[in-house]
Amino acid sequence: MKDSNTKTATKKATAAKTTTSASKAKTPASKSSASTSKTSTPKGTVKAKSSAAEGLRELFVDSLKDIYWAEKALTKALPKMAKNATSQNLIDAINDHLKVTEGQVARLEEVFASVGEKATAKKCDAMEGLIKEGEGIMEETEIGAVRDAGIIAASQKIEHYEIATYGTLAAFAKTLGEDAAVELLVQTLNEEKEADITLTEAAYNTINFDASEEDEE
Ligand SMILES: [Fe+2]
Ligand SMILES: [Fe+2]
Repeated sequence: MKDSNTKTATKKATAAKTTTSASKAKTPASKSSASTSKTSTPKGTVKAKSSAAEGLRELFVDSLKDIYWAEKALTKALPKMAKNATSQNLIDAINDHLKVTEGQVARLEEVFASVGEKATAKKCDAMEGLIKEGEGIMEETEIGAVRDAGIIAASQKIEHYEIATYGTLAAFAKTLGEDAAVELLVQTLNEEKEADITLTEAAYNTINFDASEEDEE
């Protein structure tokens, strides 16, 4: 008896819930159809070009190829930045990060292997743009404190892009159950965060170095 009462109560509760959610879905008709309908494509929605753009795994592997290209490009861009820097602090920070970056290229190869994919580089438009911006700043500034400040600004944008990328990649790998990849990606994520802090410190030191130079004159 008690049991059947409970069952009736549960049934009633479920029925009430269904009614609520059904009426909820009906209320803002235009809004709900735009966000939930899979058959109609809302205006401005980009259609996937190929099956490669579908699925989280494909997106994950594609992003890996992107950052692999980006890290390799950085191993060529960082020495140029170091050559153009004046502050010893900044030169050291860039050279240290160059070594770290070379290690990250190798680590990405481990990530590819851990998910059963061949390590392939695919041009990363964002990193290409960030590197070009850095080169533009160097061309437009006099060597010295101002160019140093420009190099710091450009490289911090690069680090933030990398932080966003590795954070996303680690989250994707976690969702996909690729635990070995998560561990490797988080190691790199932490290195990028450290580089960001070092560059922030270099920025402060560069400003101080500049101020003390002016005092000496
Ligand atoms: Fe990196
Ligand atoms: Fe980096």
